[in-house]
Amino acid sequence: MLAGEFSMFDHERETYDVVGIGFGPSNLSLAIALEEHRANVAGNEIRAAFFERQPSFGWHRNMLLPSATMQVSFLKDLVTFRDPMSSFSFIAFLHASGRLPQFVNNQDFFPTRQEFHQYLEWAQERVADRITYASEVTSIRLPPGTVPELTDRLRLEVTDVTGRGTRVVDARNVVVSTGLVPSMPHGAETDERVWHSSEFLEKYRRMDPAELRRVAVVGAGQSAAEITRFLYDELPHAQVWAVVPSYGYSVADDTPFANQVFDPGAVDDYYFGSEQTREAFWRYHRNTNYSVVDDEVIRDLYRRAYDDEVGGANRLHFLNLTRVNDVKRAGAETRVSLQAGLDGEVYDLDFDALVCATGYTAMTPGRLLGDLDRYCLRDEAGRYRVERDYRIVTDPELPCNIYLQGGTEHTHGLTASLLSNIAVRSGEIADSIVARRAERNADQAVPVEIGGDVR
Ligand code: FDA
Ligand code: NAP
Repeated sequence: MLAGEFSMFDHERETYDVVGIGFGPSNLSLAIALEEHRANVAGNEIRAAFFERQPSFGWHRNMLLPSATMQVSFLKDLVTFRDPMSSFSFIAFLHASGRLPQFVNNQDFFPTRQEFHQYLEWAQERVADRITYASEVTSIRLPPGTVPELTDRLRLEVTDVTGRGTRVVDARNVVVSTGLVPSMPHGAETDERVWHSSEFLEKYRRMDPAELRRVAVVGAGQSAAEITRFLYDELPHAQVWAVVPSYGYSVADDTPFANQVFDPGAVDDYYFGSEQTREAFWRYHRNTNYSVVDDEVIRDLYRRAYDDEVGGANRLHFLNLTRVNDVKRAGAETRVSLQAGLDGEVYDLDFDALVCATGYTAMTPGRLLGDLDRYCLRDEAGRYRVERDYRIVTDPELPCNIYLQGGTEHTHGLTASLLSNIAVRSGEIADSIVARRAERNADQAVPVEIGGDVR
């Protein structure tokens, strides 16, 4: 059975060397690394399948705003830092699209997110036989009737999100890459007029723009600034409020020395560094990514506010040093309780729509792992212990491998949730899977399933 086929029959079990959960750029990069391994090592194929809950490929589609650009160089694509000769590079994509000369004429390292999305779609088409879309992995367990030390596989339950039922697959290695988790202000819940930035375009398009006369955007990060600019431009009749916890947007440091924190070598410095070293990474370089905005977007927004003042038509309002305390909904009204930092005054404002560009929390596989979680070892702070090859450190009695692509900020540093290092990281995970398989084959322990089929 091919990965893309769907079986309603629980007993028709498929076994893969690798199952990837989630198919964003991280696992797309891994699928390519495994494909390139297959091409290089004939007869030693790694059987892989990837499950993605979206109906088709999508990379933060709800933030594909017209003028949004990438925050990493196009050279930090799916493959180049691992293998500059790969046929899956952004340059290969430009060449295939007949746009390479024009792109070079632009003299710009940072393509639009729309163009990079086209690149990702082009790349995923080439490994499409391994991906099943509209399929959410809901659990990872030991196969029933097995004891951990005598099984070499994990069992995953995969639910078809279009309601066609459930599928069960077995895997010797699982790579969890389910992405960042949207975070809302305390007490606020999303609905048709209160949106998190991760659902922005979808919910915005459901509204009649004429109804949006007073809109607010919360946050001082890249998402907040891009959405504020978008709403100001798209809704010329509307008043737009930016609720900014700082005194004003701060610039994302992407100067060359600071940018070294995203180099592949920085992962070793972080991983093998002392607690003090790791703390220094965050203390000095958090402003390369969190709660910061690209210089160009900041200047663009300031220019709009200034032009408003010159024209005497103020419709872009910055509520600085202000946080959202609470959100209440009544009919078409959204009442937002705001706390201003200067004197701590709390007051309410009503909006037709509220966008919470309030960031994300890190990926965690805890819910997927269920009971299996007790085999995963944690540090004193309760975080997963993770080996250098991104494998969760597990109780020795569990010989299966669970890898993380994301959720490893505490062990591998700032690139854990970003694109900067995915080419190298995916290569390292693919190498680890291959090496551990070779080790297992050499030891040739027992592939046994008690009370089930032996495969
Ligand atoms: P990503 O979130 O992309 O993919 C995870 C996938 O898993 C999703 O498609 C999701 O549907 C799926 N999934 C989740 N649970 C599942 C389950 N149980 N079963 C099946 N599927 C499941 N970084 C950077 O370096 N440069 C940049 O330019 C940007 N730009 C950027 C823009 C925006 C708007 C955001 C919000 C973030 C960025 N980032 C970024 C950071 C971002 O985390 C990064 O670009 C990638 O999305 C990371 O790719 P992943 O594949 O790890 O996660
Ligand atoms: P973020 O950088 O984490 O910013 C979230 C913001 O929300 C912070 O300023 C935070 O302030 C604020 N906030 C949280 N709770 C609040 C509250 N109750 N009241 C007021 N403010 C509150 O998140 P993001 O902007 O979504 O960025 C996430 C990632 O996506 C980053 O890596 C970013 O670079 C990336 N991104 C990239 C693009 C692009 O490529 N063009 C576009 C968008 C995002 P505190 O920190 O003070 O809590």
